[in-house]
Amino acid sequence: MKAIVHHKYGSPDVLELREIDKPIPADDEVLVRVHASSVNIAEWYAMTGLFIGRIGQGLLKPKDSRLGADFAGVVEEVGSSVTDFKPGDEVFGGRTGAFAEYVCVKKAIARKPANLTFEQAAAVPTAAITALQGLRDYGQIQPGQKVLINGATGGVGTFAVQIAKAFGAEVTAVCSTRNVELVRSLGADHVIDYTREDFTRSDRRYDLLFDIAGGRSWSECRRILNPDATFVIVGGPRTPLIGPLSHMIKIKLGSRGASQKVVFFIAKFTREDFIVLCELIESGKVTPVVERTYPLSKTAEAMRHIGTGHAQGKIVIEI
Ligand SMILES: NC(=O)c1ccc[n+]([C@@H]2O[C@H](COP(=O)([O-])OP(=O)(O)OC[C@H]3O[C@@H](n4cnc5c(N)ncnc54)[C@H](OP(=O)(O)O)[C@@H]3O)[C@@H](O)[C@H]2O)c1
Repeated sequence: MKAIVHHKYGSPDVLELREIDKPIPADDEVLVRVHASSVNIAEWYAMTGLFIGRIGQGLLKPKDSRLGADFAGVVEEVGSSVTDFKPGDEVFGGRTGAFAEYVCVKKAIARKPANLTFEQAAAVPTAAITALQGLRDYGQIQPGQKVLINGATGGVGTFAVQIAKAFGAEVTAVCSTRNVELVRSLGADHVIDYTREDFTRSDRRYDLLFDIAGGRSWSECRRILNPDATFVIVGGPRTPLIGPLSHMIKIKLGSRGASQKVVFFIAKFTREDFIVLCELIESGKVTPVVERTYPLSKTAEAMRHIGTGHAQGKIVIEI
């Protein structure tokens, strides 16, 4: 099968389109013919070989040459103990190596939302599950709360705005000028254009700060938080050694002793949450925003685009 692989760390030039062995499903696995995947910052870090990531990923070169995590496609074959899927089912989910024609998946898979194309469904897994788990589980979002989403127009942000609205929150979205209309169309109640206004100088106070873009200090962010607010750190500026971790550590240290709760989390793929997302999407409350679609052979271009840090919604790979 065709797949994108990389045998060394570096810029998108290290990516190669190769013929590799088609995976064989174990008894408890499903073999999916992938129709589309999408790009996340995680793949960009895996490709460039962020220092801290190399501890598990391979110090000098990647132990696993495959890339990609999000997929949407059709079940081709199921293992002997699989009862909940059958060949022909349209599915979506997450599995390492999804920049390829086939993946074998055990648990992180669910029925594809019926109202989405494969390209739209492939935009959902990582970004939407991050938004869902971050807001619901770590932010403990409640109806009527005032929520500020910083970095509202990338992969995670476009889902976060819609999911926060679906939970009944009053949403303020922070984005650049060209994205103001986009976040309004996603349901944001208030928009702060960060090129004109500093959100940390606002008179408004928030119950939940969902910080995807990061980059602002604890003392700046504290000004806009209610005393019992929650600050969810989703991401942060990309530093070459430890990526967004340095930002998270600074915020955590800065907030010691504060009345507000500061949490950082790493999203996890679960079938239960893919089902929740499927329901939100089929009910019309959430719709993926896809900026561009690239063929598998142009994955390097897709990675270059995500590398700019200014993607508008999701970047999809058609396979
Ligand atoms: N914790 C987790 O489990 C988890 C999971 C997935 C991702 N993440 C993290 O979340 C972050 C974002 O991921 P993503 O997939 O959404 O990235 P993305 O698709 O590349 O989007 C980045 C967005 O950030 C916005 N942005 C850039 N500078 C900004 C600024 N100064 N203020 C406000 N917004 C700004 C950009 O909008 P403009 O073009 O308008 O500037 C762009 O829409 C990354 O740090 C990633 O590592 C964490």
